[in-house]
Amino acid sequence: MSNCNCGSKEVSEKEVALQELLDHYRDYEGALIPVLQGAQELYGYLPADVLEKISSALKIPFSKVFGVCTFYAQFHLEPRGRNIIRMCLGTACHVRGGAKIFKALGDQLGVGDGGTTEDLRYTLEKVACIGACGLAPCLMVNDDTHGRLTVADVSKILAQYE
Ligand code: FES
Repeated sequence: MSNCNCGSKEVSEKEVALQELLDHYRDYEGALIPVLQGAQELYGYLPADVLEKISSALKIPFSKVFGVCTFYAQFHLEPRGRNIIRMCLGTACHVRGGAKIFKALGDQLGVGDGGTTEDLRYTLEKVACIGACGLAPCLMVNDDTHGRLTVADVSKILAQYE
């Protein structure tokens, strides 16, 4: 019989940290957003059971907690990849072939816009402009910008984040 309980240890550490977060903000007005941000930092996204704990600790109806999560783009209700790829399809990138690069990314990763690979390595997203139009077509992986892309660059870029 295995004595390994690494997974449950990690879960309980997150639960303890969540409890501390909830205790810290319990009596604050306007606590919901910072609590959601803190919980998302802990879990990488906002699982339904975490939203239920937040709702009950802050005495805010679940429907309101859920509504805030869906209103703000910063909150994610599904697991996200360790690497977030933001493919620009703003005007400059679009006219310089951004859609082809996006298709190549989607084909290689097996996901569409907003999709996360099964191994949780990548999440792929379309964005409107990342402020690097002079490098079009371009994308960001986490905080790194990659520009003047061709379809042939896609595999090389992905390989840097494996
Ligand atoms: S349109 Fe792509 S960076 Fe501006």
